[in-house]
Amino acid sequence: MALMISELEQTAAEATARLADVADLDALAALDAEFLGKKSALTTAKKQLGGLDPDERKAAGQAVNEIRKRVEAEIADARARLTATARAQQLEAERLDLTELRNDIRRGSMHLVTQSRDRLEDVFVGMGFTVAEGPEVETAWYNFEALNIPEWHPARGSFDTIFVNLGEPEEVMLRSHTSPVQIRTMENTEPPIYIVAPGRTFRTDTADATHLPAFNQIEGLVIDRGITMGDLAGTIDEFVRAFFGGEVKTRLRPSYFPFTEPSAEFDISRPDGSWLELGGCGMVHPNVLRNCGIDPEEWQGFAFGFGIDRLAVMRYQLDDIRELVNNDVRFLRQF
Ligand code: DAH
Repeated sequence: MALMISELEQTAAEATARLADVADLDALAALDAEFLGKKSALTTAKKQLGGLDPDERKAAGQAVNEIRKRVEAEIADARARLTATARAQQLEAERLDLTELRNDIRRGSMHLVTQSRDRLEDVFVGMGFTVAEGPEVETAWYNFEALNIPEWHPARGSFDTIFVNLGEPEEVMLRSHTSPVQIRTMENTEPPIYIVAPGRTFRTDTADATHLPAFNQIEGLVIDRGITMGDLAGTIDEFVRAFFGGEVKTRLRPSYFPFTEPSAEFDISRPDGSWLELGGCGMVHPNVLRNCGIDPEEWQGFAFGFGIDRLAVMRYQLDDIRELVNNDVRFLRQF
């Protein structure tokens, strides 16, 4: 009995030695069969256990099992090692060299509008806002009604809306501004709310030096307790400072939008001292809050919306907004 165990220990030692320099997975499979297979010393020893005295059998059985476990573990280790090596070799062999040998290819860059949009998001995120999104195709409820622009409202005409006919009973349109994202956000979020929503907007405008029929806006919405027009003015001022640097000034002019009361338009100063109209803003109208299930007695807020393309025109001093969509690489390359 003791002899059998010491022979098994020798076999195990031999297994250890041969596993140390096993070359590949095939060789390992052969070793596995040799040391653990049907005809291996370990399997044979296990079969012979039955012929031993019961008191001897227990100790011998434990010893045989212990040796078997050890050999199994060493084989598993070797398998893991060889599998990793085989995988690395395969990766190396199948590697494709995609290095471009030419060095005269220009890398592209982000489009001006994308750059402006990213920068706007960064500035507002830095001020504690999060970024929201909404669909580009909207129903009349989101684009108009919930924003306090009922069907009969004259403002509805001023949006030069592009309608689409999907055969739906309700009116469906390409959104004419990003303001519907205000509604979608308020419907789904408990105040306080601090969001900006950049995105594409569409109107029947003919493209000219200052208009594009598909353009980009960014909407801002803040709903909290005790929000005032001063917070709105401060936010716009702060954002313009962060976006353009110190030189650019802002001003608010009284205006009218159905979804805000009071409403204002905001301008930024040009280097020559004139003012450029950037967008609209105001205190969110109580009807709009109510349409979204928010109690205007408890919550107040402000909103603003302005054109990203116009901002890019100003920032990069373009003289025609259509440059943004002409995709002339000689133009785009400059930025
Ligand atoms: N949606 C308006 C437009 O496209 C701009 C605007 C005005 C947005 C006032 C606002 C706002 O959020 O409060 O003409």
